[in-house]
Amino acid sequence: MKNNISEIRQTFLKFFKNKNHTILKSSSLIPADNDPTVLIVNAGMNQFKEIFLGLQSPPYQQVATAQRCVRAGGKHNDLSNVGYTTRHHTFFEMLGNFSFGSYFKKKAIELAWELLTSSDWFNIPKERLLVTVYAYDKESYNIWINNIGLPKNRVIQIGNKKELYHSDNFWKMGDTGPCGPSSEIFYDRGDHLLGTLPGSSEDQESGDRYIEIWNLVFMQFNRKLDGTMISLPKPTVDTGMGLERIASVLQNVDSNYEIDLFRQLIIEVAKIINVSDLHNRSLYVIADHIRSCVFLIFDGLFPSNEGRGYILRRIIRRAIIYGNLLGNNNIFFYKIVKPLIDLMDDHEIVHSLAQKQNIIEDILYNEEKNFHHTLKNGLILLNHEMEKLDSNILSGARAFYLYDTHGLPLDLIIEICNQKNIQVNTQEFYYQMELQRQRSQQLYFVKNAKYAFLSMDKPTSFLGYDHIHTKGQVIALIKDNKLVQILNEGEEAIVLLDQTPFYAESGGQIGDKGKIIVQKKIGIFNVYDTKKYGHIFYHFGKMNKGILKLGDQVEAIVDKNIRICTSVNHSATHLLHAILRIVLGKHIKQKGSLVTDQYLRFDFYHSDTMEREQIRQVEFLFNQHIWSNLPISTEIMDLDRAKSTGAISSSSFEKKYYQISEVRVLNIGVLSKEICAGTHAKNTSEIGLFYITAEYSIAANTRRIEAITREVALNSIQNKCSLISNLNIVLKSSDKNIMEQIFSLQKQVCSLEKDIKFFKLKYASQKSELLVDKLRKIQGIPIIVSQLEDNIDKETLHIILNILKQKLQSVVIVLSTILNDKIHLFVSVTNDLTNRINALNIIQYLLKKIEGKGGGNKNFAQGIGKNISTFPSILESFFQTILN
Ligand code: ALA
Repeated sequence: MKNNISEIRQTFLKFFKNKNHTILKSSSLIPADNDPTVLIVNAGMNQFKEIFLGLQSPPYQQVATAQRCVRAGGKHNDLSNVGYTTRHHTFFEMLGNFSFGSYFKKKAIELAWELLTSSDWFNIPKERLLVTVYAYDKESYNIWINNIGLPKNRVIQIGNKKELYHSDNFWKMGDTGPCGPSSEIFYDRGDHLLGTLPGSSEDQESGDRYIEIWNLVFMQFNRKLDGTMISLPKPTVDTGMGLERIASVLQNVDSNYEIDLFRQLIIEVAKIINVSDLHNRSLYVIADHIRSCVFLIFDGLFPSNEGRGYILRRIIRRAIIYGNLLGNNNIFFYKIVKPLIDLMDDHEIVHSLAQKQNIIEDILYNEEKNFHHTLKNGLILLNHEMEKLDSNILSGARAFYLYDTHGLPLDLIIEICNQKNIQVNTQEFYYQMELQRQRSQQLYFVKNAKYAFLSMDKPTSFLGYDHIHTKGQVIALIKDNKLVQILNEGEEAIVLLDQTPFYAESGGQIGDKGKIIVQKKIGIFNVYDTKKYGHIFYHFGKMNKGILKLGDQVEAIVDKNIRICTSVNHSATHLLHAILRIVLGKHIKQKGSLVTDQYLRFDFYHSDTMEREQIRQVEFLFNQHIWSNLPISTEIMDLDRAKSTGAISSSSFEKKYYQISEVRVLNIGVLSKEICAGTHAKNTSEIGLFYITAEYSIAANTRRIEAITREVALNSIQNKCSLISNLNIVLKSSDKNIMEQIFSLQKQVCSLEKDIKFFKLKYASQKSELLVDKLRKIQGIPIIVSQLEDNIDKETLHIILNILKQKLQSVVIVLSTILNDKIHLFVSVTNDLTNRINALNIIQYLLKKIEGKGGGNKNFAQGIGKNISTFPSILESFFQTILN
């Protein structure tokens, strides 16, 4: 078959070899030195991580690879997508080219475009391609528009405005490590498929019409654990194109599972399991998973209950379950190893794979045999559960028990229940899962910090609703993830108290800051953040002075000012919610929020941009309610009562606290009633002043408002007034006529620009007349070489070149000018002469002599050089060279 998967891999590598890239082999799927930040290799760049971070010097400047990757755990996890989309895999090969400081955005984009669209290479119709860029990366945006010539509507800018580094177009290897803005190339499979344009849907994965084929990442930062971004020593390029995806494009099929390799593999799986419907999703899952498992075991992994081994175990089990869904009760998975290896007969590692075939089969066989017991028991239990039901709903808690304790996946539970007309309460299931996640997060933390003795049953007592200063006792000190008895001056650590007034980050409100003081101030621990895992509060900070010992009696003092401002802002989010419901309508529902002492952020479901008038109306109504001094009060009640009295909650709350019994309800006058665990002002007048600083969209049908209160709002308004006063001084205007003054200046600039253009044209046409006289013929080639006056701008030079070309039709033109102490060179060769003399060769010859840099093509080239003094003689010698 033309364009079979091996040919595509080879073409990719050949293209980059031609472009002076060194072709390196795929690394093992197990990261080098067991890098703890990545469990399993998930991208082509992993093996070069140290180079990207500047810790290792690159053996080659430009490299290309076809890297085997698995995305089934950690930051990039597609496990649950497999079988449900046409384009996700746990195992895939990533084709990538890398530049370690040699080229950056422009060339990376040009190379990708050439490979994809050139008739010598992949020859994909250009009109089928569109791209996304990181919203703050104007450079890439301009390259796509100006250098590649894509129309603006096919270059989509994606970013999370105001929240840097959060975007589909900001690629991160993991929670830490190299990262940077990216530009993704998409292929439009056509309107016979459903799908929204990239970036237009909240769910980035929706639809199959537009498929991302290539991700060009411009690595610029190293992300630290605390989220800080450190610039990398050299900007580098990391790209990744899924081999299976590009194969689906080049083989003109609508799904990765229809490409040559998968079609044949699926036939083999179907034979082994004895099914005839080749489009069954379970077959896709099995065909995908066998590839991960074979390569993971080949690279040295064993199934186990922890870390990497657990990822492998989960993939194997998922494949077996889908086999079960196809009605297969026999041990089957290991039987697919051989057909898979046979199908890869031209892959570089097939020989080594074949040597390990028996071991891989044995491991898979044993794993499946053991899992069959679990599965069998689980299914018996599920049947019991179904028999016990007195309605046709299986509770989420029971489903979760089967999942968590007996390894039965939700998919399978739903499938089997559905066959008996039984519904599964999945909302409750996910609630249980969330609780489990919280428990394991706490356990993980506890385990890591080696203080497993801390009883989960003894929560930290939180006194912070009523007090910001309380006594407490130190019950644990954690430094560098170890329990210690004492903290010394200067040490960073986590302090646990039996009771605390410090609010721990939750519900969008940041954690409190403050001090923990040992009696008589012999030790001061500065708290810079408070978090909570489960019911235990952790005070993060640093020993500012003296020492702190386990068991010490302390004073815990929250920073009053920060707490007041944060509480006020929290109340402000509630009031804003209520007022938005008045101004925009009752459909307004909170999606998320961030509450700090400096500002507040409120995300809500709403489809339209807010008009400026509406924003001002919200501000006005809000401030009116500040002036009315409404009381803010809380009451504790059970959830049902809270709901029946009309208390509203955020959508994240509903997911998290489903089934919770008692809740805290916050009232602002009779205007707002919300379930909330945060800290608040006592009345609305404490908010002082409210001002909206931004309103924008963050996803489909989701808007964000950012606002400030109190002194921050006053400062901001005062700064704006000062700015206008300063502008009035510079523009010699007043508040009344400042706009008129600006319009009149704009008009003046327009008219001056027109004049300049006119004079440039005039100068250029006079200059061209003079230059025509300089026309000489050298070996039959008409040529003009001239060093023009200093400081002629590029635009004028281009006009001169164009006039000359039009006048003379057949000519070689070499022009130079000195601008900012550098020689700027321009070479143009008309089409009819390019087979005899080439603009790029001429510029390269000249640039070599003047220590310059530049480039171009056979028709037009330009460059900049330093060696001004020798230039006239070089131009002369250039004639000699041409003459010879
Ligand atoms: N490292 C980038 C990715 O995996 C290219 O998408």
